[in-house]
Amino acid sequence: MSGGIILDHIVKTFPDRDSPVHAVQDVSLRIGEGEIYGIVGFSGAGKSTLVRCINLLERPTSGRVLIDKVELTALRPQALKAERRKIGMIFQQFNLFATRTVFENVAFPLKHTGLSKAQIAQKVTSLLKYVELENKASAYPSQLSGGQKQRVAIARALATDPKILLCDEATSALDPITTSSILKLLKKLNQETGITIVVITHQMQVVKELCHKVAVMEHGKVVEEGDVFDIFAWPKHPVTRNFVASAGNVEEEAAAAPADLNDRYLRLKYIGDSANDAVISQISRRFDADISILSGSIETIDGKSLGQLNVRVNADAGRLTAILDYLKDLRIEAEVIGGAGSAD
Ligand SMILES: Nc1ncnc2c1ncn2[C@@H]1O[C@H](COP(=O)(O)OP(=O)(O)OP(=O)(O)O)[C@@H](O)[C@H]1O
Ligand SMILES: [Mg+2]
Repeated sequence: MSGGIILDHIVKTFPDRDSPVHAVQDVSLRIGEGEIYGIVGFSGAGKSTLVRCINLLERPTSGRVLIDKVELTALRPQALKAERRKIGMIFQQFNLFATRTVFENVAFPLKHTGLSKAQIAQKVTSLLKYVELENKASAYPSQLSGGQKQRVAIARALATDPKILLCDEATSALDPITTSSILKLLKKLNQETGITIVVITHQMQVVKELCHKVAVMEHGKVVEEGDVFDIFAWPKHPVTRNFVASAGNVEEEAAAAPADLNDRYLRLKYIGDSANDAVISQISRRFDADISILSGSIETIDGKSLGQLNVRVNADAGRLTAILDYLKDLRIEAEVIGGAGSAD
């Protein structure tokens, strides 16, 4: 059992009377078996279209989709149907059948699979237990909260024992606490079963809490891709930087602070604990600069620690340059994010 995905030069163009829409423009990605892979990007970037190409809900205009080396794009309808059963999907709007009970919703994909009624009941019960909804089996979707609906959708998606789970904005309609409980469930599922999960999201917090790898899309293309840790530590593309910045509130801090002509706000990033107080006091002495720590954090992202320190330095332009060079030598990345030294 494995769930490795290869997208090979995927193009999806929607014909239009006036001008065709180039929703996905030559995207190639490898998603490893057992990975949790995030796809982020602004609205219209082509995320949903790309992910719908994985299970051929959307047939690519050109390019190949391979799951465990089986080329889905080359299969005949009957064989494709069998392969699709190995891919589950959940959505922002849950897409449950309103006129069926929770039990019937989860049992739905098990129709025509050759399982007996008793086997189906057993399977559904164990799935509902897994998503902690065993007491809601006879409820209707309208009687559930958003988080409970998404749990039902997850149980239904898992009914055919898929190797891959596609999640299109699965937590975007939920409040932060409910989001967090769904993310925990997905993480547990991945750890316990090794299922490969592809997660589309607008929320970098989701990427940070859940994913191992992430691709950033803009205008139908992947503009940056890599380990979540690296993307948060060293975002390169402007879109990525924008998304990473949205996960913190340092800019607000800088904007709200009183202005002194020589005050500059720096964001220092480092791996582990190299930029501790000692470094800060060293800079202060060495460059005779007034420097204070505004906030700091060490986060664990995908098992590695990324430190971030927001500091205010009172220094003229020349001294600031010297400080930045010094930090560079220490392998501490420094970014001027506000104050007199910033571009805006
Ligand atoms: N069935 C369709 N017919 C025509 N155009 C489409 C179709 N589906 C998507 N598009 C267009 O393709 C582009 C990419 O859409 P897509 O839904 O993949 O973006 P997205 O990144 O998922 O956006 P969002 O974050 O808003 O969900 C958009 O310009 C959209 O209007
Ligand atoms: Mg979408």
